[in-house]
Amino acid sequence: MVCEPMADSSSRQGERYATDAVLAFVRRVHAPHDEALQRAFDAPEREGMPAIQVGPDEGKTLMLLLQLAGARRVVEIGTLAAYSTLWMARALPEDGKLWTFEKEPKHAEVARANLEAAGLADRVEVRVGDAIQGLASIEAEGPFDAVFVDADKGRYDRYGAWAAAHLRPGGLLLGDNAYFFGRLADEDDEAAAAMRRFHQQAARDFETVCLPTPDGLLLGRRI
Ligand SMILES: C[S@@+](CC[C@H](N)C(=O)[O-])C[C@H]1O[C@@H](n2cnc3c(N)ncnc32)[C@H](O)[C@@H]1O
Repeated sequence: MVCEPMADSSSRQGERYATDAVLAFVRRVHAPHDEALQRAFDAPEREGMPAIQVGPDEGKTLMLLLQLAGARRVVEIGTLAAYSTLWMARALPEDGKLWTFEKEPKHAEVARANLEAAGLADRVEVRVGDAIQGLASIEAEGPFDAVFVDADKGRYDRYGAWAAAHLRPGGLLLGDNAYFFGRLADEDDEAAAAMRRFHQQAARDFETVCLPTPDGLLLGRRI
């Protein structure tokens, strides 16, 4: 029998403990930026690109999770200016490798410059083009230790299925915007349905949790 769990006690009481001041404090202490991270974080605004990168807490979470998993071969879908890429690349050993896919040539160019400035260009390959084709081209490099999905939301189900097929047992699936900007439960939205399939497939093939970041971060460990 599967029961619907109750909400935790703080949210039942409607309390909000993560105030802006609390969040600013923990971010300063646990996820401070050095020059390279700040440069990559600021790049979208500076370069006239959408500022839709993960937050510092999510970036640091990605880094720590990859370290805990001993990740050496990592795939990212959705590069933008390489802010999340940079956090993850810092978790890799010197001979580790990260493939990141970006469809916009301008974003890829900015990302490469940021990785170069951070001294991480040797272990990151930025591939320009649609991620579906890009993923097919690296299959022989697998199995992989982690896949981070952060691109077009209407195809998360396809990206999740690819990850399930190409991650090693124990490998990590990570998916940002897993609440789909609050639209996850919307019935008449094909992209929301794809995001729900992403969750459901992941819960079948992985040990999963959806971390309550501002827009949800799905985390799965391949069974
Ligand atoms: C949310 S941003 C990525 C942010 C980045 N992961 C970070 O946190 O710093 C999404 C990126 O995915 C790219 N993108 C969207 N659809 C794509 C596709 N089908 N293939 C490759 N890249 C895609 C967009 O151009 C955009 O740069």
